[in-house]
Amino acid sequence: MSEPFDAVDVIRTKRDGGAVPEPALRWMIDAYTREYVADAQMASFAMAVLLNGMTRDEIRVMTDAMIASGERMDFSGLGKPTVDKHSTGGVGDKITLPLAPLVASFGVAVPQLSGRGLGHTGGTLDKLESIPGWRAALSNDEMFAQLQDVGAVVCAAGSGLAPADKRLYALRDVTGTVEAIPLIASSIMSKKIAEGTDALVLDVKFGSGAFMQDVEKARELARTMVALGTDSGVATTALLTDMSTPLGLAIGNANEVRESVEVLAGGGPADVVELTVALAREMLALAGRPEADVEGALRNGRAMDAWRAMIRAQDGDPDAPLPTPRETHTVVAEDSGTVRRMEALPFGIAAWRLGAGRARAQDPVVHAAGIDLHVKPGQTVTAGQPLFTLVADDESRFPRALDAVRGAYDIGADLGAASAPLVLERITA
Ligand code: URA
Repeated sequence: MSEPFDAVDVIRTKRDGGAVPEPALRWMIDAYTREYVADAQMASFAMAVLLNGMTRDEIRVMTDAMIASGERMDFSGLGKPTVDKHSTGGVGDKITLPLAPLVASFGVAVPQLSGRGLGHTGGTLDKLESIPGWRAALSNDEMFAQLQDVGAVVCAAGSGLAPADKRLYALRDVTGTVEAIPLIASSIMSKKIAEGTDALVLDVKFGSGAFMQDVEKARELARTMVALGTDSGVATTALLTDMSTPLGLAIGNANEVRESVEVLAGGGPADVVELTVALAREMLALAGRPEADVEGALRNGRAMDAWRAMIRAQDGDPDAPLPTPRETHTVVAEDSGTVRRMEALPFGIAAWRLGAGRARAQDPVVHAAGIDLHVKPGQTVTAGQPLFTLVADDESRFPRALDAVRGAYDIGADLGAASAPLVLERITA
């Protein structure tokens, strides 16, 4: 059967700064998924999008075509509202762990399909797999039952959601085209819309540990994704949040679970609590529960009960000891003064080199590995006081991790530049 369009025409239109008509764009994505359009042609198209952008309408069509390439989940039979959160990823970002059970404790369903980490940003599934027995793979029926009984599910996204994105993302990764905002927005939102959530809150990060380091670019990405969600009938809002310093004190996997449990017990680092509460408020407002006492649920054990039920439902033991590291190396302050800066990206890279992350998709992670910070920017220290501890299963990993954090923090007589607020802005349609 002959094809109705020609990939070269589509590429030329975008190369010359035009808008690709809807039927041609839908065909391009479908034909790429069918492997009729070649990788070289799609790579060329992706580069033209990176250089020339896309209209709001083109981004909507692109997203829709990627959704249509696979299955669409449907939670309308649950009898309760569904709301999800997506973070563009950062260092020490464990917020999903306390957030999903916290929101679910108010009778709202949270279907959180997550991924594994690649590079310096950790993956939620890797963190939860530190818990003995916990399993990430659930069938659609198991997921539905857990949403009904417990309310919160964090599990692996099946390969049936937006398969066109899977191919395109792998291609972008090796052709220098990851950074195109229309492509990032359609990639993230196609998966979230296909997941079938009623509402979505986006945590779009900026700063050295973020995917979009520049605040203007992060804002543009957030606006694009909020518009896409809204146009597709998913109530969507975004928070623009600072990722120039690691979130909380734990960077890794098992240690991030420990810190999340502290938050669920009513304690934990102030920044992790602040962001968890801010995102929970957004999610509950979209789910029709703006009056929910989010902080109260962290204090009175209600969120902790939901966490324990969520872990048990996926065969995890919430009371089992978490893996502990074999080797530790503590770095102390050389001078007395105020911690002025701790850059997220180098600390993320160091944790990755210690074994907390993976360089290739098929590599295992070392669950006990990572970094425990003892201080945060703004705190005063005296010479000899511990600043952070590297943890690993093998001390041969320490020198390269120490190389990564050299120059990434400093201690001085004053506070340095005033730090930005953690939640900079709220973006709505
Ligand atoms: N995450 C995604 O899922 N897609 C992108 O393009 C970037 C980040």
